[in-house]
Amino acid sequence: MASYYFVTLAFLFVWICTIGAEFYVVDDQIGLGRRFDGIGGLSGGGATTRLLVNYEEPYRNQILDYLFKPDFGASLQILKVEIGGDAQTTDGTEPSHMHYEGDENYFRGYEWWLMKEAKKRNPDITLIGLPWAFPHWVGKGQGSPYHFPDVTASYVVSWIIGAKQYHDLDIDYVGIWNEKTFNADYIKILRSTLDKAGLPDVGIIAADGNWDISVAMEMDPHLYGAVDIIGVHYPGTKTIPEALRTKKKLWSSEDYSTFNNDVGAGCWARILNQNYVNGRMTSTISWNLVASYYEDLSFGRDGLMTAEEPWSGNYVVESPIWITAHTTQFAKPGWRYLQTIGNLAHGGSYVALTDGRGNLTVVIETMTHDHSQCVRPPLPPYSVSPQNATFNLKGSFATATELQLWYSKFDFKNSKHTLFKKLQPVKALGGFFTLSLGVDEVYTLTTITTGQKGHYTDPPNSSPFPKKYFDDFNVRNPSFDEAPFFADQTGVFQYFPNLTDPGPHVFTLRQVVTERPIAWANDADQTISIIGDHSWGDVTVTCDVLIETVNTGGVFIAARVDKGGESVREAMGVFFWVFANGTYRVTNDIGGKMVRAEGLSGTKAGKWHTLTLTVKGQFAHGMLNGYLLWKDAVILNPRNGWAAIGTYSFEYAQFDNFQVVAD
Ligand SMILES: *[C@@H]1O[C@H](CO)[C@@H](O)[C@H](O)[C@H]1NC(C)=O
Ligand SMILES: *[C@@H]1O[C@H](CO)[C@@H](O)[C@H](O)[C@H]1NC(C)=O
Ligand SMILES: *[C@@H]1O[C@H](CO)[C@@H](O)[C@H](O)[C@H]1NC(C)=O
Ligand SMILES: *[C@@H]1O[C@H](CO)[C@@H](O)[C@H](O)[C@H]1NC(C)=O
Repeated sequence: MASYYFVTLAFLFVWICTIGAEFYVVDDQIGLGRRFDGIGGLSGGGATTRLLVNYEEPYRNQILDYLFKPDFGASLQILKVEIGGDAQTTDGTEPSHMHYEGDENYFRGYEWWLMKEAKKRNPDITLIGLPWAFPHWVGKGQGSPYHFPDVTASYVVSWIIGAKQYHDLDIDYVGIWNEKTFNADYIKILRSTLDKAGLPDVGIIAADGNWDISVAMEMDPHLYGAVDIIGVHYPGTKTIPEALRTKKKLWSSEDYSTFNNDVGAGCWARILNQNYVNGRMTSTISWNLVASYYEDLSFGRDGLMTAEEPWSGNYVVESPIWITAHTTQFAKPGWRYLQTIGNLAHGGSYVALTDGRGNLTVVIETMTHDHSQCVRPPLPPYSVSPQNATFNLKGSFATATELQLWYSKFDFKNSKHTLFKKLQPVKALGGFFTLSLGVDEVYTLTTITTGQKGHYTDPPNSSPFPKKYFDDFNVRNPSFDEAPFFADQTGVFQYFPNLTDPGPHVFTLRQVVTERPIAWANDADQTISIIGDHSWGDVTVTCDVLIETVNTGGVFIAARVDKGGESVREAMGVFFWVFANGTYRVTNDIGGKMVRAEGLSGTKAGKWHTLTLTVKGQFAHGMLNGYLLWKDAVILNPRNGWAAIGTYSFEYAQFDNFQVVAD
C-alpha cells in the first residue's frame, strides 16, 4: 500500500512538472494566521438605504434575504450603519436621535429597522455604528465634535444604549468621526464613557480614515488601550509596518465604492482576498450595502446589489453579491486564516481559512487589472495569465480526499459571466490537486458541504417613477418617519401630526433641523428634499406650505433640480420661494442668487398657502392659492431634474398635499 502511495506521488510529481504547474502548500502545522472577522456592508454615509424601506413585500424581504440570510446570498457577517447626524453624508441626510439638546427619539430613520432585519436573519451578525455628522448642539456652535468631548461621547453612547433599550440590539463596535481627523483625547473619553455606562464590550474602531492612528497608538499607551480595531478606508490592499506592529486587528472598515457591474465584482473579489494577503486586514466592509438611493445622486449603484425602484418593486441581484458568497458561505468570523496564503505565480491570489476543527476553505481569484479596478485608490499595473496551480494539502487537511468547488468567471470578451456555480467536487490524491486557472475567475474549494445560490422568482420589471404622484402625508402610525421616496439632501423632513389642529392639516411633513449641523459634506444653507425622476423636464409641482418662522422664514417648491448629495449647494433648477415678509422669488439656483422673477405675494407665517409651479420648455409660471402669481420666467438650464421642497434656512416649516405631474 505504502509503496503504491509513493509510486503514485512520484508519478504525480513528474506529471505536474511536465505540465508546468506551480506548487502551493496549504498547511496548518506551522501555526495559524489572524482571525477572520467577516465581510460586511455599510448602510449610510449617507442615506444609501433610503429607498429600500418603501419596497412592498415580498420584495423587501427578498432583498434582505439576498443580503443577510446565511447560506443564501451575500450572507453578510457585519452590518455597519451611520449614526445619523442630520447632515448630508453623500447621498442624503440621516436623522439624528437628538435633533436638539434634550430631544431623544430612537425610532427615526431606517437603520434601527435594518439592524433588526439583519439580526433576524443572522443572530451572529456584528453591528457597528459610526457618526459622519453631528447635530449643531453637540459642538455648542463650535462646529467640531471635539470641543466638548464629553458631550459628544455621551451623545454617541446614548445611541448605543437606545439601540438596546428600544430595539434589543447589541452594538458590537462604535467609531469616531468618519474620514475626519481623529482626536486622541476624545477616543479615550469615549472609551471611559462606554465603560461607565456598563458597556465594556463595545469596542472602538478608529479612525475610519488612513493609517495615522497606528503611529499615534505606538506612542500613546492610553490611546493604544482604547482602540480595539484599526479601521482604514480604501487601503488599496496595503498596510504599513506601524499598523502591523500594534498587533491590533486591522480592518478595511470601508472599501469598494465601485459601480456594481462585473468590473465592480472584480474589484470586490480582488480586495476581499488581497486585503488579507497584502495588508493582513481581517475584515472588509463595502460602501455601500445596497444601492437604494436615486441613481443620479453621487456614486449611483455603488452597492453590492441594486434596489432603487420601490415604486416598481424591481431590484437586481448584482454580481458582487455572489463574489461575497464565495467567502461568507464557507468561512465564519472566528475562523483563522492559514499562514500559507499568498499571490499566485502568474497573477491573482489565494487565501485559506480553517475553523480549527478540520474544515478548510480556499478562495482563489485571478482578476485582471482592467477588470478589477476599484474607484480608489489607483491600481498599479500588473498582469495575470492562465496558469496551472497544484495545491498540496498538509497537516489537518492532508487526508482530505474531496473538496466542494464553487466557481465564478467573468468573460468580458463575450459579455458573459458564470456566478457562484457549484461544480463537480475536486478530488485530492495523496493531498494533491491541480487546477487549471483562467483569468477573471473565482474559485472556492471547501470541506463545507452546505452553500446555496439562493433564488426567488424574478421581481417585477423595472419602470420609471410614476408620472403622476400625490401624497397627503395622512399616516396615523407611520412605520418610518420619512414620507416615501422623499430623499432629504439638507435638513430632515419627517411626518408631523398636529393633533390640536382643527383644520385640514393635522398630518403634514415637517422640516425639523433648525441649526446648521456639524456637517460632513458641504450642506446647502437651505434645506431640501428631492423626489421623482431626474429625467423629468416639463412638470407641474403643487404643494400646501406653512412657513413657521415669523418675519424671516421662507419655503420653496422646485422642479428640474439637477444635483443633490455632496453637490447640493450647487443645485440648479426652478425654485419658487415664498417668504414670511409677503414676497416671492423665482430663482434658477438653490442659493437664491439667480433671480428670474420676484414681487409681492402677501404670504405670511402661520398660514397655509398652496403653491403651484409649472415648467414647460424654457418657460415657467407659478400660482399662489390657485391664482397666477408670475409667468414667463425664462429657464434655459437645467432641462431636467427632480421635484423638490425645502426651506429658506434651517427653520421649521410644513408641507402638505404634495403633487407632481410630469408630461
Ligand atoms: C466541519 O464543519 C462541520 C459543520 O460545522 C462540522 O460538523 C464538522 O465537524 C467540521 N469538521 C470537519 C472535518 O468536517
Ligand atoms: C495546464 O495543463 C494542461 C495539461 O493538463 C496543459 O495543456 C496546459 O497547457 C497547461 N496550461 C498552462 C498555462 O500551463
Ligand atoms: C398646531 O395646531 C395649532 C392649532 O391650529 C396651532 O396653533 C399650532 O401652531 C400648530 N403647531 C405647529 C407646530 O404647526
Ligand atoms: C423678504 O425676505 C427674504 C428672505 O429673508 C429677503 O431675501 C427679502 O429681501 C425680503 N424682502 C423684503 C421686501 O423685505
